[in-house]
Amino acid sequence: MKHTPLLNRLFNKDFRLVDGTDEIFELDLALWEYETLSKKELVDRSAYFQLVDGKETAHFRTCNLQNLEDVHKNSSFRTKVFFLSGKYSTGYATHGLFPYRGKFHPQLIRALLNIQRIKPGHIVLDPMAGSSTVAVEANLLGIDAISIDLSPFCELMGKVKTFALDLDPMILESIAIKPQEILEKLKKEKVPKYFTNDENSEKRKYYEIVLLAFLDTMGFADRSKSSIDMLFPRVLERYIATIKHFQTAKKEMDLDIGQSKIIKGSVLELSIDDDSVDAIITSPPYSFAIDYLKNDQPQLEYLGHSLDDLRTEMIGLQGRGVSNKLEIYFSKMEQAIKEMGRVSKKGAPIIIIIGTNDIQTDGVNLQKNIIELAKNQELKFDFEILKPIRGLQNTMKSESILFFTNKK
Ligand SMILES: C[S@@+](CC[C@H](N)C(=O)[O-])C[C@H]1O[C@@H](n2cnc3c(N)ncnc32)[C@H](O)[C@@H]1O
Repeated sequence: MKHTPLLNRLFNKDFRLVDGTDEIFELDLALWEYETLSKKELVDRSAYFQLVDGKETAHFRTCNLQNLEDVHKNSSFRTKVFFLSGKYSTGYATHGLFPYRGKFHPQLIRALLNIQRIKPGHIVLDPMAGSSTVAVEANLLGIDAISIDLSPFCELMGKVKTFALDLDPMILESIAIKPQEILEKLKKEKVPKYFTNDENSEKRKYYEIVLLAFLDTMGFADRSKSSIDMLFPRVLERYIATIKHFQTAKKEMDLDIGQSKIIKGSVLELSIDDDSVDAIITSPPYSFAIDYLKNDQPQLEYLGHSLDDLRTEMIGLQGRGVSNKLEIYFSKMEQAIKEMGRVSKKGAPIIIIIGTNDIQTDGVNLQKNIIELAKNQELKFDFEILKPIRGLQNTMKSESILFFTNKK
């Protein structure tokens, strides 16, 4: 009996994929990286390979240098297993600092940047950025990014996750000294008082890291029915270890980190010049599947923001009844796509990742409608890759990675 295993047919025998590359869409993207990148590029920036011609890749080495066992030494067994099993896909660099709901798989974004030939010198935009996964991935590859989200909490998350890629180690030292004192301050004083410092000052970065850890603890304490006092030192310790280990890996690997602009703003009216970005990768709300404001209500209120003010601009949160909600959703998405077309260069790749929540939308397929809306804005639809969603089979089976090209 003769059989050649699939992976041996796809790749040369001296190539190996990182652990956990087991979905069809991942093999598809790995094959695309293999066909698009030179061998040197595969070693330096590929997302799915462990070995290229027998040589360990930068992604594989960086993930291992980050010592996730140490980062999670005080986490519960479940949390530790979760992060370790996502060592090459979700848990590396600063992605694990806040577990934002509905966040991209970072490894997928890395592959998308690679196969679209986005390189240092280019600018990539995510105009509905959530936790800024796109910006972090771009920066890790030395590419500059612009990250925009309507939520001020997402702005904080995006800033911390991106500036922590390139942070003065003294800041970490000073945070580690007095966690209890920091906690008492955060519980007593209102946050804006801390922010009298200049936007990019080192002192401000210090507060933004501890503030994000505090807001992370708020959600964690609520979910686990524990007290903030008990959990905060552990969360802060995890933040410090995550950043410190990434800094060690960065130094060892001599990584050049790109710059990010993190902006609080709306995709419906982007504060960006026409024809200025080289690529867009984004994921809008999947109609009204998640109420992003309610999800982050305690954090937004702590930061002093009114949910009502944000609600009108937020995509997917207006209307009564399914058909009215969808009508408003699609009219906002049309405007969002128009803005994406305006700010991106001719020929720029625009990738929209979206899942259909058919059951909630009475069978209306979001992908099909998005493809139609994009056509009206001179975005050529190239094709889609399907990505299954594990664990949500009852409401949502898969997400689509929709590839468009700006044809204006
Ligand atoms: C699916 S999530 C994006 C998650 C992101 N891909 C990540 O990796 O974290 C959709 C995001 O769209 C944002 N959003 C909704 N309406 C918006 C608007 N009008 N302008 C900008 N962002 C908006 C929400 O705040 C939410 O963070």
